[in-house]
Amino acid sequence: MKRTLEDIDVKGKKVLIRVDYNVPLNGNLKITNDKRIVSTIPTLRYLLNENAAVVIMAHLGRPKGKVVPEMSLMPVSVRLGELLGKPVKFVGGGCVGVESKKAANNLAPGEILLLENLRFHPEEEGRSKSGEKNSVAMEAFAKELASMGEVFIQDAFGTVHRSHASTVGVVKYVKDRAVGFLVEKELKFLREVLENPKRPFLAILGGSKVSDKIDVIENLLDKVDAIIIGGAMAYSFLKSCGISMGTSLVENDKLDLSVSLFKKAEGKKVDFLLPVDHVITSKIDFLNKNVPNGAIVKTTLNEMIPDGFMGVDIGLRSIDKFSEIIRSAKTIVWNGPLGVFEVGDFSKGTIEVAKLVAEVTDKGAISIVGGGDSVAAVEKAGVDKRMSYISTGGGAFLKFLEGKELPGIVSMPNK
Ligand code: 3PG
Repeated sequence: MKRTLEDIDVKGKKVLIRVDYNVPLNGNLKITNDKRIVSTIPTLRYLLNENAAVVIMAHLGRPKGKVVPEMSLMPVSVRLGELLGKPVKFVGGGCVGVESKKAANNLAPGEILLLENLRFHPEEEGRSKSGEKNSVAMEAFAKELASMGEVFIQDAFGTVHRSHASTVGVVKYVKDRAVGFLVEKELKFLREVLENPKRPFLAILGGSKVSDKIDVIENLLDKVDAIIIGGAMAYSFLKSCGISMGTSLVENDKLDLSVSLFKKAEGKKVDFLLPVDHVITSKIDFLNKNVPNGAIVKTTLNEMIPDGFMGVDIGLRSIDKFSEIIRSAKTIVWNGPLGVFEVGDFSKGTIEVAKLVAEVTDKGAISIVGGGDSVAAVEKAGVDKRMSYISTGGGAFLKFLEGKELPGIVSMPNK
């Protein structure tokens, strides 16, 4: 068990906290989903009630060590202020610049400061100004960040799989440290589910590539009773059984691996369910997420996809087949949509599955959803509030499902 916020004394202290405010912005730099900001409010409120002066570190996007004005955290500081109902100080000019340090220094108890995007500095990700890997530069940067707080709180669950200056580097330069309420909650839910699931335990995995999910499947095969595979990933598995998949997205270099995962599932007596029919189209505009004029859209009669067509969603018979197994599950972990759900015509499979998961959750099953697209899908289905838990982690959630260590957690002290 990791040392948590309530295990340490933060009263009146200057607290440096890492959060994940990597939120989506539209073309007008308006935040389109503030869930990650909202998720940090309990920790921040606790710190402010304890009269701490709170210095927040965060990143937005992947500016690759350069200042990219569109990736400034300024809009986040405004939203955070609205959510907290009090002003959040924000200084431009770099998170370790003179102005930021001055603002952190002068921060009074009960005040809050959000530093500018950490990733405007290459050192955050372990690189020198000229872009080469450089651990000395990273350490120096971590030290500068650490100088802005007496206590360090790790509450950036979505970023704990990254070994960066602000997630791991700062830890050894701040004496008092603990995980925040969000990280504590994520670890509790995910651990409980993976280590002590109510059975039958079902994993629903979608998304486009088998290669992204190999380690997840391998690890889950030791834990679950059944796995449903959807999304383009399913086409590689079906092709590895010798079934033609038309022009569907298939990873031809992963077919042997797909076969070996099948065999492993068989050996472990895990039900491995693939779609038995598909919604297919002759054309799709992935960029603009629509079906071009003149495209032929239909549903197959079985697993096979004819030449000139690509699979874009699971069909009704697959939904029926999957619904049986979902209805009998007592624990469900879900990552990845089952089709191109951003295109209205191809979202039915994902939406129906989301509704089924909500239905069994209402009846007492535990459901955990993680990963940006899956979370967007349950939100689109209007059932997000009915899931037992929605993780704020994308890559971090996947690493957890892979059974891998998360550097930003490993580096934190135990109770
Ligand atoms: C995320 O959005 O998953 C986290 O903020 C991590 O972002 P990254 O993949 O750019 O490191």
